[in-house]
Order: sequence, then structure tokens, then C-alpha cells
Amino acid sequence: MKSFTTLTLLLIAQGICMAQTPIYKNKKAPTESRVEDLLKRMTLDEKILQLNQGTVGDNNNPNNNGFKKPSFAEGIGSLIDFSADPAFRNSIQKRAMEETRLGIPILFGYDVIHGFRTVYPISLAQGCSFNTELVQQMCAVSAKETKLSGVDWTFSPMIDVARDPRWGRVSEGYGEDPYTNAMFGVASVRGYQGNQLDAPYSIAACLKHFVGYGMSEGGRDYHYADISPQSLWETYMVPYQAGIKAGAATVMSGFNDISGIPASANHYTLTEVLKNRWSHDGFVVSDWGSVEQLMAQGVAKDRKEAGLKAFMAGVDMDMEDDVYSQNLKQLITEKKIPMTRIDDAVKRVLRIKFRLGLFDSPYTPIVEQRYLQPESKVVAQQLAAESMVLLKNDQHILPITAATSKIALVGPLAKDQEDLLGNWHAHGEAADITTILDGLQKEFGQKVQFNYAKGCAFDGTDESLIAEAVEAARKSDIIIACIGEKAGWTGENTSRSTIALPAIQEKLIAELKKTGKPLVLILGNGRPLELMRLQPMADAILEMWQPGITAGDALASILSGRVNPSGKLDITFPLTTGQIPTYYDMRQAARPYSGKYQDIPTDPLYWFGYGLSYTNFNYAPIQLSSASIRKNQKLTATVEVKNTGATTGKEAVLWYISAPASSISRPMKELKYFEKKEIAAGTKIIYKFELDPIRDLSFPDADGKRHLEAGTFTLMAGDQKIKFELTD
Ligand code: BGC
Repeated sequence: MKSFTTLTLLLIAQGICMAQTPIYKNKKAPTESRVEDLLKRMTLDEKILQLNQGTVGDNNNPNNNGFKKPSFAEGIGSLIDFSADPAFRNSIQKRAMEETRLGIPILFGYDVIHGFRTVYPISLAQGCSFNTELVQQMCAVSAKETKLSGVDWTFSPMIDVARDPRWGRVSEGYGEDPYTNAMFGVASVRGYQGNQLDAPYSIAACLKHFVGYGMSEGGRDYHYADISPQSLWETYMVPYQAGIKAGAATVMSGFNDISGIPASANHYTLTEVLKNRWSHDGFVVSDWGSVEQLMAQGVAKDRKEAGLKAFMAGVDMDMEDDVYSQNLKQLITEKKIPMTRIDDAVKRVLRIKFRLGLFDSPYTPIVEQRYLQPESKVVAQQLAAESMVLLKNDQHILPITAATSKIALVGPLAKDQEDLLGNWHAHGEAADITTILDGLQKEFGQKVQFNYAKGCAFDGTDESLIAEAVEAARKSDIIIACIGEKAGWTGENTSRSTIALPAIQEKLIAELKKTGKPLVLILGNGRPLELMRLQPMADAILEMWQPGITAGDALASILSGRVNPSGKLDITFPLTTGQIPTYYDMRQAARPYSGKYQDIPTDPLYWFGYGLSYTNFNYAPIQLSSASIRKNQKLTATVEVKNTGATTGKEAVLWYISAPASSISRPMKELKYFEKKEIAAGTKIIYKFELDPIRDLSFPDADGKRHLEAGTFTLMAGDQKIKFELTD
């Protein structure tokens, strides 16, 4: 009798257990237990499906239109959702949740590069703000719009250090400097992901394109990148390491070949470094078709081999090209891919889905008022204004004084909308843009008469509109000429052989100059420009970049002086295209004062870090906590900056170090820290940099191991320098 009772109780207990919610569906269970539990229940086919990404909706990336696919497999791991329609997403998600065996939610991704519907300045502009808090805030408000539109995951930030402005994608990153890319990458990750991935408005970030894509030879997109192991570690890995440390959920492998091993088949970068050394436990998605493209790059004879190489190198999810869905099973049967690797990849994908809370809240709430909210517009305008860089301001011609009553507003950008959105503007709409003319009219009101004339198109040879612009200039006190690039001239697959503006725009400026009226150039572009001929003609130049929806308002606030410009270049402007590459952290030449071009000056026009203000900032000598430190000691450096002018302004202090003779040659100077603060007119502020020798004075070798060597270093901020000793 006793044994009967025990048996019955056991059976009942077991029954209760069976009827209980599986661990993977239990919100309270730890993520890793949920991942393991679900993995155990999955068939091989279900696992492989998790490693594939398809698309839904109309593709708005022109480079990938040809690849459009009509349908996707039920139970697929991820979809790129071009629809911006949360109800549509929910209907697809419902099928995954309710009509597939295990109810695994789909992860919806999309390229939200500088905004979803509210379009912010392009990333290259954002970097010039040197205001990482503001960029973090922008990513947070952008994440909210994104999430409410049914997207859980953005393919952003792009943190490819870019030193060739002919490369169109220079507009998508934060310029030429590893540290600047690192800091803005970290700010973006924090902004998108928030404190917790499963918070209502958090989305997963994706660091891209790992790694070295910015080095595409000749600035030609998708090209080979010749990167030495030394520069890989010193330059290209730096932002990625920082982004991973900040908790980026995912990484995208690049299109480029890295000195013979394509980035999407690179075991060293993807597995040895990213996953093993840096302990990244999220997943790696390929770039669009970058698995299949291993054939074009000459490392795979067919799609199957391409799949094998990419997967074994560490690419967990295949974007769009169906190589994994069609080949992984066979490769497992042939024992070329071990189940442990499949399980590892699947766990990585599931982990991110659990962390995002997708199993527990798979659907997007329908909120009608989700776009262009006041909070987004405020951030958009502040960031646009802080991103603009005053490059020239002879005789303090800017800001425009009260005495100005007639302004000639000319140029192809003066009334433009579409192009000021910049490239890759997601669901941004041209109609959302405040034009420059509208912005200026609002700012200056009835006091100023604007004589508008287009002057010329962006390109072409039609000079017929120039006369009208010259006439407008003659009737005015000052000329504001808004010239630059069309949005589609930068971005993916938009390389240019010259970074000069088309001749017609230069001709317009030359004709305007002949009127003798003060001439202000407003530049709207997505890459550094060759300004060799334009710069001498202008009295003032303001680089406004492609500022997004608040273009006219932000520009007007600077031209009127209501906002003091505070941007500094995150990328060097060469004098001519022929000087490329130009970047501030070059190594020293063997003959520093020789090796010059015979036909043009050797120095670029505007270096990284350059930017003027309406006021003057005076740097006092740098103070150090000690003139000599040991390797395990920190050094505190301070610099007092005084605003000696009559206008309040923000100043970003950029701290550089320059290393002594070392066992390898080192860049002439390297940015190690920056901080931006507002300084009221006539007051001073102390900026502080806590220097950590291991972090700031060491250098990596060709395998990423850091070395710290003693010697005399130089620390620089503004026009100040000071030496200090590092001893053993
Ligand atoms: C681009 C990526 C992008 C992907 C998905 C590719 O062509 O290189 O940056 O995230 O498409 O749209």
C-alpha cells in the first residue's frame, strides 16, 4: 500500500511538471536556462532557421533592390522590416508565436542610421559636435520611434574609421579618428539599448562593419582593404572593442577583404578576437549577401563553401542570401560543421531575443502619435546646430548683424528639402524639413528682406540661372550661398573620384564674388570637400553637413548668433583630392620637412579638430598632478579655458598625447579624451583629464597585445603642451 502511494505521488508530480510552462517560457527563469531549455527542444531544421534573415516590405536601399525576395520561411530567425507598420509586424509575429511548434519570436531589424522618421544630422556631422551625451540622447529618442514602429534591432552604429573621403560611406561614421569613433559608438549603443534591452523603448544595436571596411582601396565601395595587422589593432579595432565593452548586442561582418581574408570569413577577427578574447556573447550577422560574395572575393568555389567558411569563421546569421538555409544541413551531414558550432550560433541568437524580452512581449503596441514628437525635434535641432562647423569668419562677418536688411539667399540648397536629409534617412520625409529659406525668414522676421535665387543646379552645365543670382546679390547687403552635395552622392556605393563640388557650383560662387558683396558659403555635404578654389573667395564658410529635419532652424540660429557655433571637424579637409589620405594621426616621415608635393601645398586645408566660434577661448598652461608618474599611477591634467569674448559659447577640449621614441614608430599625436562645456562670456572653466597610462599611453602590437614603454610624453590641449615622464 505504502509503495503504491509513493508511486502515485511520483506520477502525479511528474504530470504536474509536464503540464508546467517550459522553462524557456518562464519569464522569471534566468536567460541562460531559458536558452538551454529551448535549444534542447529544437530540431536541426528549427535551429538552422534561426540563423537566417529575410526581408519584408519594400526595400529602400537602392543597392539591394535587385535582391528583393517575395517570401520567407515560417519560423525564420530574423526579418529586415521595411514596412514601418507595427500592425503588419504583429501579424507576422503572431504566426511565429502561434503557428510554429515552439513559438520562437522573430527579431525585426532595420537600418536606423540617423533617425527613423525624425531625421537627425548624418553621423559624420554628429561626430563634429564632440557631444556624446547629446548623441546618446538622440539615439534614445530615435530608438523610441523605431521600437514603436515594430523594429527591435538597428544596424547601427557604423564605426568604421574612414580616411578616404572619396568613399561614400564616410558620411555614415564618425570620421577619421579611432577614439572619436569609439566614443560615439559607445554613446549610440547606450542610447539605443538603454539600461536594459527589454525596456519598452530599447532596441538592440549592431556595430558595423567588422572590420576595416573604411579602408576600401581607392575609396571604392566593396573593395579590397589592405590593412596591416598593426593598423588593424591601432586604428580599426579600437571602436569595436569599446562598443563591445559597452554591451553592444550584435555585430555585422563587413563586405571587405582584409589583406586576403574577407571580413565575413575571418576567423581571427570574428572568433578569436571578438568572441574569445572580448567575450562577445551576442551574435554576428553577415552584411547583405556578404556570405555569398565570398565567391566573388575568390575564397569560395560555390555557395556551399561560402557558407562553410563564413559560418566556421564566426558569422552566426546570414543576411538575406539564403546560403545558410540551403547548405548548413548538408554541411552538418558531411561533418564539416559540428553541432557544437550550430548550437553556439543558435544560442547567441536566442540570447539576444530573450534579452530583448521578445518571448515575453513579442508584439508592438500601436501608438498613433509616434513620429516627430517634440522631444525628438528638440534633440534634432540642438544636435544639428552643435554639429555645424565654422571654418572661416573673416572680419567677424558672422553672425549677421542687425544692420543687415537685405540678404541674397542663393544656391541649390537654399530651398532644398530632400538633400538636407542626407543619405540613408530611413522613413524620413522631405516634407518634414524646414528649408533654409523658411528657417531664416522665421529667425529674422520682417527685419530682413530675402532675395532668393537658385543660381544653378547641383550639377550639369546650365549657366542660365546664374545671372538671376548675381542680380539678387547686387540688390543685397550680403550673400549667403548654399551649395553642396545631393543626398545620394554619399552613402553606400557612392564613391567619387574627386571631392570637389561640380564646376557649375564653383562658377556660381566665382560670379557672385565679382559683385564685391560679402560672401558667406553654407556647405551641405556628406564628405569633406575640396575647397581649394572656393575657400579664398569666401568671407565666411559654415559647414552645415546634412542636418536632417531641422536644417533651416538650426542653421538660422547660428547665422543670427542666437547659437554660437561649437562644432569641430571629426575629419580632415584636404586641400585637394590629390592629397588623400590626410589624417591627423599619421606617422612621422623620415624627412619631416621634405617629401612635399611639387605642385600643391602639402598641408590639408582644415585639420581634424578645427572649428571656430563667435567668441575666443584662451587656454592657460596645462597643470599636472605630477611631472613624473610610474606605470601604475594615474596623472591628473587640468587646463583652464577662458572665454575672452563677449558671447557665451561651448568649447570642446581635445586632449592629445604624443609618444617618445618607442620600439615601434607611433602616430605623431593621438586623441585620448575630449570634453565639451559651455563657458559664459568673460568667465573661465577648468577641464580635467584623468590619464591612465595603461589605457592612454600604451600601444598595441600586431596581435593586439598592449605595451607600455617608459619615456617622455607630451600632452596637448588647444595651443598648450606639456611634457611628463613615465617611469618603470
Ligand atoms: C549595408 C549595411 C546594411 C545592410 C542592410 C548593406 O548593403 O552594407 O550597412 O545594414 O545592407 O540594409
